[in-house]
Amino acid sequence: MTIGILKETQKGETRVAISPNIAKQLVENNFKVLIEKDAGEKSSFKNSDYRAVGAATEERGVVFKESDVLLRVNPFTETDLKLVNSGQVLISQMFHKSDPEMMEALAEANVSSFSLDAMPRISRAQDMDVLSSQSNLAGYKAVIRGAYEMKKILPLMMTAAGTITPARVLVYGVGVAGLQAIATAKRLGAVVEATDIRPETKEQTESLGAKFIEVKDDEEEAGSVYAKVASEDYARRQKEAVDESLFKADLVITTAMVPGRKSPVLITEEQVKKMKNGSVIIDLAAAQGGNCELSKMHKEVVANGVKIIGTTIAPESVSTNASELFAKNMFNFIMHLTDDNEFNWDLEDEITDETLIVHKGLIRQNGKTQPV
Ligand code: NAI
Repeated sequence: MTIGILKETQKGETRVAISPNIAKQLVENNFKVLIEKDAGEKSSFKNSDYRAVGAATEERGVVFKESDVLLRVNPFTETDLKLVNSGQVLISQMFHKSDPEMMEALAEANVSSFSLDAMPRISRAQDMDVLSSQSNLAGYKAVIRGAYEMKKILPLMMTAAGTITPARVLVYGVGVAGLQAIATAKRLGAVVEATDIRPETKEQTESLGAKFIEVKDDEEEAGSVYAKVASEDYARRQKEAVDESLFKADLVITTAMVPGRKSPVLITEEQVKKMKNGSVIIDLAAAQGGNCELSKMHKEVVANGVKIIGTTIAPESVSTNASELFAKNMFNFIMHLTDDNEFNWDLEDEITDETLIVHKGLIRQNGKTQPV
C-alpha cells in the first residue's frame, strides 16, 4: 500500500503529517511512502531526511496519482479534491462538523475520509488523539508567550539589589492545554492557581503543586460531565470564587472550551477593568469566540493596561515537535486501520466508526450512511 503525504497549503501552517522518524517506521512496516517535495521544510525536516529512511520525495501531482491513501494535517481543499482519485482514502483533521459543504465535496469525489478530530475520547484512542497532542504543546507555549509579553519575570529572585517576588499565574480550564500550562508555569517558578468545571481536575491541579479554586456546583451530584455547559448560576459563583485571584494575577491563561460550541465567556470587560495594570491574558479559546469578552483572534488588544492575546499559537510555532507528535498519532491510527499493510477496518469498532465521515460516496453520521 502506498501512503502519500501532502505539503500543507493553509496560510501560516508549518506542520507536516509525517516526520522522517515515522516515515521510517512506515517503511519498516512495508508501506511505500511518497512525500511531496519540501513538505517537511517548515518543520525543519529536509527532503534528504525522508529519503535517508527509504521514503521517496515527489512532485504534488505524482503523490496524488500514485497513493492509495493521502495524509494531511489540515482539511483537504477544493483544489485537492479535483486531484484525488475515486476510491482513495484521505486522512486529516477535517473539522467537518463546521463544514457540511466539504463533506458533500468529499462524497462527490467518491473517496473514503477519516477525520482525526472526530477521534472518540476513550483510553484506547489516546495515542491517536491529535487534539490532545497539539493542545499539550499549546499549554506550554501559552506560558512562554505570556512570559515574553509580561513586564515581570516568573520566578522568585533574590539579588543584592533586592528580592523579586514570583509572578502569579491563573489558569482557566484544566484540560490537556491547561494542565501543561500549569506544569510549565510551575517549572518557571510562578505561583499558580487554576479552576475548572470538572471536579476531578482539583486532584490533577494539586498533583502539579498548584492551588485549585473550587466553585461549588449544585449539579455536581450528577457527576463529572466532560463537555458540560456551565449554567448562569455556576458562572456567577465562578466569578465570586475566582475574582480575587484574577485581580491579583500577572498572567492569565484561558483554555476553557466546550466541543462543538462557542467557548464560554469567563472574563468580562468589567472584570478586565479591575485587573492589574501590565497583566497579560493569553486566550487559547479565541478561535471559538474566546474566554475573555475582549479577545480577538490573532490580535493583541490592550484594555486598561491589560494585554489580551487571542491565539491558538502552539502547533505552528513549535512545528518540529508538533509534527513529530501528530505523525506518531497518525502512525498509530494507520496501524489501527490496517493488517499486513492493507486496509482491514471494522465499522463495529468505535474508533473507526466515529472517524470515518465519508465512505464510498456517502456521508456517515453516528454510524449510519446518509445519501448526498
Ligand atoms: P477542552 O479543550 O474541551 O476544554 C478544556 C477544559 O475547559 C476542560 O477541562 C473543561 O472541563 C473546561 N471548561 C469548559 N467550560 C468551562 C467553564 N465554564 N469553566 C471552567 N472550565 C471549563 O478539553 P480537553 O483539554 O480537550 O480535554 C478535557 C479532558 O478530556 C482531559 O483532561 C481528559 O480527561 C479528557 N480527554 C480524554 C482523552 C482520551 O481518553 N482519549 C483525550 C483527550 C482528553
